[in-house]
Amino acid sequence: MKKIALVSAVFVCVLMNLPAQDSRAAFALNHYAARNFIAGALSTAELDTVIQAGIRAPSARNGQPWHFTVVRNQALAKRIVPDIADGNALIIVSASGDGKTNGAEILDCGLAAESIYLAAQAIGLGSRIYTGPIDAVNRSLKSDLGLPAGYSAVVLVRVGKVQQVDAASAASSRKAASALVTYK
Ligand SMILES: Cc1cc2nc3c(=O)[nH]c(=O)nc-3n(C[C@H](O)[C@H](O)[C@H](O)COP(=O)(O)O)c2cc1C
Repeated sequence: MKKIALVSAVFVCVLMNLPAQDSRAAFALNHYAARNFIAGALSTAELDTVIQAGIRAPSARNGQPWHFTVVRNQALAKRIVPDIADGNALIIVSASGDGKTNGAEILDCGLAAESIYLAAQAIGLGSRIYTGPIDAVNRSLKSDLGLPAGYSAVVLVRVGKVQQVDAASAASSRKAASALVTYK
């Protein structure tokens, strides 16, 4: 799996006309929101790694306002994201409050989600961030999920095995840097 990720990074280098020694830069650029999940169990070690990455995320005043709920139970996970592939895990990031009005904590939870998202891809898994199911989670699944009292889900990350493909064909297009970036 790691070998395929490396080959894919080198492929992106070639596509982007980067010298081979810039493969680390290419690696930083080749993440994408997976669609091509395949069935396959995740090991506890894989899940521990991505959770540790979430715990390592930066937060305002190092407040670390998050709680991580790792949903491995497939029946429960399918009530949240119905089309998951067998073995996918959903990692729900929650924080104290209603999940909508606690602005700084929501940003922190978003950063934790991004850290999980990137860590999963760094170890050869696929990942995708979701907010679509969050209102339904907060309406009817808080107790089934055992969220801490007074907490609401903010965002979730789906993690699972993927059919490896090169990032250039997997990622959606992006706006041009020239339209987004100002250097002074
Ligand atoms: C805050 C946030 C919420 C998202 N919510 C959903 C979602 O509810 N359902 C979904 O399929 N994808 C969701 N996505 C994934 C985005 O659609 C995806 O990251 C974007 O299309 C870029 O995809 P790419 O990196 O593969 O090009 C979400 C992403 C973010 C950052």
